[in-house]
Amino acid sequence: MRTAELAALEIRAVASPGERAAICRVVLRALPAWFGNAEANRAYARQVRGLPCFAAFVGGAVVGFLALRLQGEDAAEIHVMGVLPEQQRRGIGRQLVAQCEQFCLARGIFLLTVKTLADTHPSPSYAKTRAFYASLGFVPQRITDEWGSGQPCLHMAKALEGEGIV
Ligand SMILES: CC(C)(COP(=O)(O)OP(=O)(O)OC[C@H]1O[C@@H](n2cnc3c(N)ncnc32)[C@H](O)[C@@H]1OP(=O)(O)O)[C@@H](O)C(=O)NCCC(=O)NCCS
Repeated sequence: MRTAELAALEIRAVASPGERAAICRVVLRALPAWFGNAEANRAYARQVRGLPCFAAFVGGAVVGFLALRLQGEDAAEIHVMGVLPEQQRRGIGRQLVAQCEQFCLARGIFLLTVKTLADTHPSPSYAKTRAFYASLGFVPQRITDEWGSGQPCLHMAKALEGEGIV
């Protein structure tokens, strides 16, 4: 069953601003432990309209997405990503990040960053998020208070290795 499902997995760039926003809404709505603030979710849906986006589909239905924010010519940040709860831990998040890394490398971008809740916050949900990014090679850089008190912001970064880099 799992093999058949994964065989049906499609990951592709999403070009239409309207489709980006719709996909964002569907995925964030399914993840209230991470995205429980309706106002923030509306802001994400607005923001992703203008960002490079990649989405994962199973049988034509969206199961996950990632939006990327380019930062100058050399770096990019994972702005937001999520995989539907029932589809997690099947390698979809890893494949979304891999696709986004290929996108970056094709543009000469060799640094990929992400911000997430630091482990000085007790959230068990975000402990899983940090484990995910760490497993993909993201390294903790620093913790800031840019998200306000009680919301420690962990900056993580990954150096991308393209062909010809030794
Ligand atoms: C984080 C998230 C995107 C990961 O997507 P996913 O498809 O479940 O992740 P993958 O199956 O590709 O996992 C890749 C690796 O990450 C690690 N990992 C993923 N989920 C994990 C968890 N719950 N606990 C520990 N490690 C985990 C594992 O090493 C895993 O490899 P393995 O399954 O072979 O052991 C997904 O769990 C999610 O949507 N979480 C809620 C929203 C969120 O955290 N978004 C990011 C913040 S903006």
